[in-house]
Amino acid sequence: MKRIVILISGRGSNMEAIVKAHAQEAWQAEIAAVISNRPDSAGLKFAAEHGVATAVVDHKAYPSREAFDAELQRVIDGFAPDLVVLAGFMRILTPGFTRHYEGRMLNIHPSLLPAFTGLHTHERAIEAGCRFAGATVHFVTAELDHGAIVAQAVVPVLDGDDASKLAARVLVQEHRMYPRAVRWFIEGQLRIEGERVVQLAGESQSFS
Ligand code: GAR
Repeated sequence: MKRIVILISGRGSNMEAIVKAHAQEAWQAEIAAVISNRPDSAGLKFAAEHGVATAVVDHKAYPSREAFDAELQRVIDGFAPDLVVLAGFMRILTPGFTRHYEGRMLNIHPSLLPAFTGLHTHERAIEAGCRFAGATVHFVTAELDHGAIVAQAVVPVLDGDDASKLAARVLVQEHRMYPRAVRWFIEGQLRIEGERVVQLAGESQSFS
């Protein structure tokens, strides 16, 4: 049975979507833990209520990024994961940490990468006059919001959109796409070929 550890920083709605899909679709995997860097993350309550182990590694308690990442890595590895899933985990990771989980850590980012890495993606897409926006699931590498793309979801940017309206439209697609991508990994259906990720069963890696 493959083991999944999910990292969150707040609301945790993507984590919820994964936990629900895992239960409804009877994945051959265990959600070993949900870990947050913020003790007050709403998602921790949901995870505990659904019988998932939770842990907090509060970044404020560590003097440096390296010290925080070292402790986080120790806690994650205590759950012996096959896959680490970043689901709204709002921390910049150190190269040593990303190297340790290379090929077995996924992230979801709320833009059509490689456009709009970093923060405030929806505001920036609207300001740039983009007619489409979306989200990307990718393998995590040392470079922020880079790494081979597993799946992308696209939504229209509508006249009158503000960042929160656009974020809500994108989030609906995130909740469809991320559980699917995690399941693909667990089932061994993803192969990284250079910069690209191939879905071996031929399922569409595009969502809309
Ligand atoms: C999601 O929209 C996710 O794409 C984004 O944060 C939100 C978390 O929501 N992630 C990032 O911005 C990562 N850089 P959630 O906590 O409800 O899943």
